[in-house]
Amino acid sequence: MKPLNILAISGSLRKISYNTAAIEALSRLAPEDVTVKVYKGLGDLPLFNPDLESELPVAVRELKSALAQSQGLIIASPEYAHGVSGVMKNALDWLVSGEEFVYLPVMLINTSPRASHAQAALREVVTTMSGRIIENACVSVPLLSSNLDVEGVMQSPDIAGLLQLRLQQFVAGIEALGGADD
Ligand SMILES: Cc1cc2nc3c(=O)[nH]c(=O)nc-3n(C[C@H](O)[C@H](O)[C@H](O)COP(=O)(O)O)c2cc1C
Repeated sequence: MKPLNILAISGSLRKISYNTAAIEALSRLAPEDVTVKVYKGLGDLPLFNPDLESELPVAVRELKSALAQSQGLIIASPEYAHGVSGVMKNALDWLVSGEEFVYLPVMLINTSPRASHAQAALREVVTTMSGRIIENACVSVPLLSSNLDVEGVMQSPDIAGLLQLRLQQFVAGIEALGGADD
């Protein structure tokens, strides 16, 4: 198998975020030949403005470049007032009119099983942007109110095991789509 790069974006800017904990755990759980890179620039992205697309801001160029070097994307977003977090949607809006997202395999993580609206909205947005959701990699992990940080997630056999299994399924899905050959 060729090495795979996967970018992971948490839609939360909170320091102690369940969504960030989940993707940081995935970066630790990844097999040797898979790199899950946690994107840290969400809070640096300017508000989306199509007028700026002719001369992209540096932070946007960095996001697009990180995505262009990735064969898959993991998204974990909180739900705010039944919607995707604004910062997550802002990042996706910047990616609408580029090549990077088209046909990209996507894994969705939901850290609050009661938050069904944001997940449904994310599915709609990702599909509209021609991302390919790998269904058997998508996962709901009950982190809300658990007080678990990344260390706690890693020490929880059930949660770490589930995340690892879904990552394996994501990698298999990417390979099945030929993503590792890129
Ligand atoms: C302003 C606000 C609105 C929220 N709205 C919802 C909601 O509509 N549905 C829901 O399930 N959770 C809602 N939540 C709970 C968050 O989704 C939850 O705290 C989540 O863990 C935040 O993600 P994070 O831990 O990664 O920061 C809301 C939280 C805040 C602060």
